[in-house]
Amino acid sequence: MQEIQPTITQRDIICAEIAAPPTAMVVFGASGDLTRRKLLVSLFELFKRGLLNERFYLLGCGRKELSDEKFRQIAQQAIQEESGDTSAKAIEPFIKKLCYISGDYNDTAFHKDIRIKLDELDKKHKVDGCRIFYLAVPPFLYGTIIEHLGSAGLSCPVETDSKQCIRLVVEKPFGRDLQSAVELDKKIHKCFDESQIYRIDHYLGKETVQNILMFRFANTIYEPLWNRNYIDNVQITIAEMIGVEHRASYYDKAGALRDMFQNHMLQMLALVAMEPPISFEADHIRDEKVKLLRSIRPFKPDELDDFIVRGQYGPGSIDGGQIAGYLDEPGVNPGSGTETFVAARLFIDNWRWKGVPFYLRTGKRLARKDTEIAITFKQVPHSMFISAGLDEIPSNILVLQIQPEEGISLQFQAKRPGSKICMGTLNMNFNYRSVFGVDMPEAYQRLLLDCMIGDQTLFNRQDGVEVAWRLLMPVLQAWQNNEASPYEYSAGSSSFPQADSLIESDGRKWRKLGEA
Ligand code: BG6
Repeated sequence: MQEIQPTITQRDIICAEIAAPPTAMVVFGASGDLTRRKLLVSLFELFKRGLLNERFYLLGCGRKELSDEKFRQIAQQAIQEESGDTSAKAIEPFIKKLCYISGDYNDTAFHKDIRIKLDELDKKHKVDGCRIFYLAVPPFLYGTIIEHLGSAGLSCPVETDSKQCIRLVVEKPFGRDLQSAVELDKKIHKCFDESQIYRIDHYLGKETVQNILMFRFANTIYEPLWNRNYIDNVQITIAEMIGVEHRASYYDKAGALRDMFQNHMLQMLALVAMEPPISFEADHIRDEKVKLLRSIRPFKPDELDDFIVRGQYGPGSIDGGQIAGYLDEPGVNPGSGTETFVAARLFIDNWRWKGVPFYLRTGKRLARKDTEIAITFKQVPHSMFISAGLDEIPSNILVLQIQPEEGISLQFQAKRPGSKICMGTLNMNFNYRSVFGVDMPEAYQRLLLDCMIGDQTLFNRQDGVEVAWRLLMPVLQAWQNNEASPYEYSAGSSSFPQADSLIESDGRKWRKLGEA
């Protein structure tokens, strides 16, 4: 397939970024992996870009005993590891804004100490604006910490007419099924109002995922085609090469359905298929996403295998290296039936999408890292080139490439130079990096900044979380009750026969990983 590069006109691009107000960020789980790998470096990048307020500080809370000095050293090392060759000197002014307090999350006294410390730090850093509590802890601690925040009087401004705003950031997973999600929500709502709650799905912070909205609703040419009359099928893929890494204790209890499908996959589906919201306001967008998720055809327990299948990686090889099977990963229960791959065929029962299949797949330890949404248009109704043997003309395919190479490509047919009827498939390709000349910012930068600003657009609302769990409940129940293990696929492969037949029974094929 030949590539052609479009010229991008950069006229009228509106890029104003709002800087954060004075903010105190309180991170629970400050000595943990998420803080080290994502939060500190993202905050540092915001600082470098001048988007963090001068009057900002971060109070790390954790069970591990650490002095402020030690926490700063760890933070400096983490930032240097994650952000390449940044010098210690460049990090220093940011590092000075960090401090640490240790204690037991179950202990009321710890939360009182946090409160005293915050009052002291607010004065020192002259922060009177926004206070954010970030739960970067294992989910079983969410309830405890939230209750303590409530009883220590930390979940609402001290004075009712205060300008101070208090926010809570909750990392996924929000519960492990519908019931636990509802229970968690009840606990949170005892202390926090919905307008204070920021439920993170980091996929929504990815530039290319945000671009789905711009692409669909800032152009007129796609919308008339974006429906059952012109679209044959949509494929959404999140393929990873990594395995469970050091997260087996969490992952083995979660599996791909809870870890990726309930959130990242369904969120991308919602963005690609929802109706145009009336504005870019958080609730207008979230209303449309929820409406779309509600119109996904429910799974019927007796027909499950025709619509959703699960796999688990066995031993194999990736890039020439031998890879252990899931059951041999450290920390995984040797008899585990946890899925590391899910493939599904969904239908959206509404006016726009009736009858159009949406094929979704996600898996770990696959041949390539590849996250994309591929929209395949219907074939031409009749080939006028049949006399030249061109009775099957390939479909146009629009690919929104999310990772690893962010971009958009459109495949179409065109005449090739040469004989009179000589046709080929061309790929019109727009690559973010080569056009804008920048690396995509880490999703957490966007989300942390939005939270400080008070913009909930890229965060999930509780009804969206619940509707996604409700959809998956029959699957979770059936898989839990089913003795049969997930199908095995070799590490380094792309699929397995049962996942293939889900789409092949409709006369279609999965796209090759990395095909765009
Ligand atoms: C996380 C999952 O939410 O997303 C991980 O818990 C997964 O299992 C990760 O590896 C994938 O994110 P990304 O941004 O690397 O595609």
